[in-house]
Amino acid sequence: MGTELEQRIRDKTARVGIIGLGYVGLPLISAFVEAGFRCLGFDVDQVKIDALLAGRSYIKHISGTEVQQWIEGQQLEPTLDMSRLHEADVLLICVPTPLSDSRDPDLRYVESTARSIAAVLRPGQLIVLESTTYPTTTRDVLVPILEQSGLTVEQDIYVAYSPEREDPGNPDYSAAGIPKVVGGMGAASTRLAQALYEQAIVQVIPVSSPEVAEACKILENTYRAVNIALVNELKTLFDRMDIDVWEVVDAAKTKPFGFQPFYPGPGLGGHCIPIDPFYLTWLARKQGLATRFIELAGEVNSQMPDYVVTRLGEFLNDLGKPIRGSRICLLGVAYKKDVDDPRESPSFELMERLLARGADLTYNDPHIPALPSMRHHNLPDMKSQELTPEFLSAQDCVLIATDHSDYDFAFIVEHAPLVIDTRNATQHVTAGRDKIRKA
Ligand SMILES: NC(=O)c1ccc[n+]([C@@H]2O[C@H](COP(=O)([O-])OP(=O)(O)OC[C@H]3O[C@@H](n4cnc5c(N)ncnc54)[C@H](O)[C@@H]3O)[C@@H](O)[C@H]2O)c1
Repeated sequence: MGTELEQRIRDKTARVGIIGLGYVGLPLISAFVEAGFRCLGFDVDQVKIDALLAGRSYIKHISGTEVQQWIEGQQLEPTLDMSRLHEADVLLICVPTPLSDSRDPDLRYVESTARSIAAVLRPGQLIVLESTTYPTTTRDVLVPILEQSGLTVEQDIYVAYSPEREDPGNPDYSAAGIPKVVGGMGAASTRLAQALYEQAIVQVIPVSSPEVAEACKILENTYRAVNIALVNELKTLFDRMDIDVWEVVDAAKTKPFGFQPFYPGPGLGGHCIPIDPFYLTWLARKQGLATRFIELAGEVNSQMPDYVVTRLGEFLNDLGKPIRGSRICLLGVAYKKDVDDPRESPSFELMERLLARGADLTYNDPHIPALPSMRHHNLPDMKSQELTPEFLSAQDCVLIATDHSDYDFAFIVEHAPLVIDTRNATQHVTAGRDKIRKA
């Protein structure tokens, strides 16, 4: 049976079903459609399905024209109907894996997807979990639900884990260009998952188990969280000594081996780096171990918005102004440059703190025209303000939280009376440097 599926994968007649059409699922569709597969796209969000059916994209780096071509060419069929999961030969799960309020893994989306699949599962299907999660999720959470169907993994169905490494906003790497690690529940599952991704992805790296693939993803994200915490901590020390941390990192990165640059910022954001390491912390607690590096990194990174607001208060104070009543415009609410994704953005932490201190606060983000409603933040309705010379000069201070490429930083510095830069975005601005403060 596995041989038949392998043949269908190799001649590209296998139907690829992608479950969860968000920041990960949609680029993955692009990779498989480009490779010549017909895809079924599943989501529970009617708004997303309607958008796709109308040929519209809701993700900045996937164009509407591309979506239109998929729909018109019948390369993508988006649907809310989970009973159609049996139509796909291969199912790739890309649903969210957030943290609960007590910062424990919240696998309810993975579990409900697994139940939907189990309800219609048929022999010969390959199921791959792509959502980021802790090691053992595939074996201990996904497989038991799938096997409630009466079908057995490696005999009737095939199951693997392959972490998504999407880097939104990075024009150098699309889903198809990022090597993919694959760990199956057994030799047949690994072989099939490898065969599948090899059709669409530049390089596939098979590993010995789903646990290795799961741990690999968590290692990658924890590595970033810890190294970002290190430069954030160094920033607070070097600031006090009047040493520019960005200049230090740029000098250090000239070492041709043994050093990779990480840059400080106003805190951590996005759906991955602030969240995934806590999956590991939770797992370690279950094993009776502590993950002190991760906890410490979380502590340092989560203090950064406080640090930035304290510095901002000092810079305004130098000009004889309190935060209360000062007109402050925050630039960039997306969690990183050139994306339209505000999830877990430290900008919201900055905004909450500035509002609590009485600032007359506005924001601008070319990719986020209005603030979305958020479960964990209590912010008023706000709309992105246009950055005209009049608007900028009427501010007491402009706070750069995200360094979008669309910003003309020379123009911003020219017109704003004080610019607080948390990203070294103004490094190439030559005029008006006396108005710039790094924080
Ligand atoms: N965004 C990234 O850059 C990135 C990178 C690597 C890994 N990941 C991981 O990939 C996973 C997905 O992240 P994302 O950023 O694409 O999330 P997302 O919120 O953008 O998309 C997830 C989609 O899944 C849908 N969904 C939820 N429950 C569903 C269900 N039961 N059935 C069908 N669809 C369902 C949601 O409606 C949503 O459209 C997460 O585990 C994340 O950690 C994300």
